[in-house]
Amino acid sequence: MKTKRIAITGGAGQIAYSLLFRIASGELLGDNTPVSLHILEVPEALSGLEGVKMELVDSAFPLLQEIRIGSDPEKIFEGVDLALFVGAKPRGPGMERKDLLTENGKIFIGQGKALNKVASRNVKSVVIGNPCNTNCLILSQNAPDLNPKNFFAMTRLDENRAKAMLGQKAGCHAAAVKKVGIWGNHSATQVPDFVHATIKGKKALEVISDRAWLEGEFVKGVQQRGAEIIRLRGKSSAASAASAIIDTVRSLETETEEDDWYSVAISSKKNPYGIDENLIFSFPCRTVHGECKIVEGLNWDQFLEEKIRATEKELKEERSAVV
Ligand code: NAD
Ligand code: LMR
Repeated sequence: MKTKRIAITGGAGQIAYSLLFRIASGELLGDNTPVSLHILEVPEALSGLEGVKMELVDSAFPLLQEIRIGSDPEKIFEGVDLALFVGAKPRGPGMERKDLLTENGKIFIGQGKALNKVASRNVKSVVIGNPCNTNCLILSQNAPDLNPKNFFAMTRLDENRAKAMLGQKAGCHAAAVKKVGIWGNHSATQVPDFVHATIKGKKALEVISDRAWLEGEFVKGVQQRGAEIIRLRGKSSAASAASAIIDTVRSLETETEEDDWYSVAISSKKNPYGIDENLIFSFPCRTVHGECKIVEGLNWDQFLEEKIRATEKELKEERSAVV
């Protein structure tokens, strides 16, 4: 197998400390795919990254071919097949993710330009750094020569949280919960869709008949889970975020099972739900013949309609703030 070149930004940070080792061990692309890590950091954090590199070397991973580190995106992104944009400031207690837009948004201008210039023409990019939807929009707009369909922002952690919560309520494992779509923004307005979710193959609404819990505690619980972790840990989620990054890329790279879908934020251009066409919006998606496609034909009830329009509105406001 040809070596895959993977860029990771924010390499000295807390998510990367979990993510890098899982990629190098083969968890991301499988046991037959050698990987080269291209890791970007700001100059002040390069010595910390040097230490992480030593630990990667000391792990003697059989699949790990090469580790490049540096702070020049044009050098680090050269020839990469996959780029994971983790490097950005996390929020603290009492903040919303969009409060980070002024500081973090500008990172994605320069990095988009560099990606456009030197990455593989088929590079897939996943933005994790918050606010990830709008950062991804900035990235994509600054990389006009690359396919806009290859830009993604991560809402998989929300999906995983929703599956865990529904599983707990139904008294079964999260793995028995499927078709949980997250609509919209990775923010407190996101919409975890319990209407189309299934539990052990049945409609979630048949298994959990308490609709008031679903509309209230469940939706709010998923929306606020990140803030709750910050409150308790003093830092935002890291290992579960790294896990969700692995899940996102694996879902993008493998054909989706018939009875499932996954959540990722993608370009809303020509979407089948009438969402504004110039956003990075999270939809239920499936990978079909190697391409990430929005699941079509899902009916929104009044609850979903109202909530999805609110999250769309928030994303439009974030876009206006950036302009
Ligand atoms: P962290 O502070 O531990 O690490 C971030 C790293 O990024 C730091 O080492 C910093 O030096 C580096 N960095 C900053 N600007 C950079 C730049 N321009 N280029 C390269 N590197 C840069 O933070 P973390 O906990 O690893 O979180 C990173 C980001 O991911 C935050 O914005 C956080 O809010 C976000 N996040 C998103 C999700 C999601 O579900 N989408 C989940 C968890 C965290
Ligand atoms: C999360 O959902 O855990 C991350 O987006 C971090 C945060 O700020 O909540």
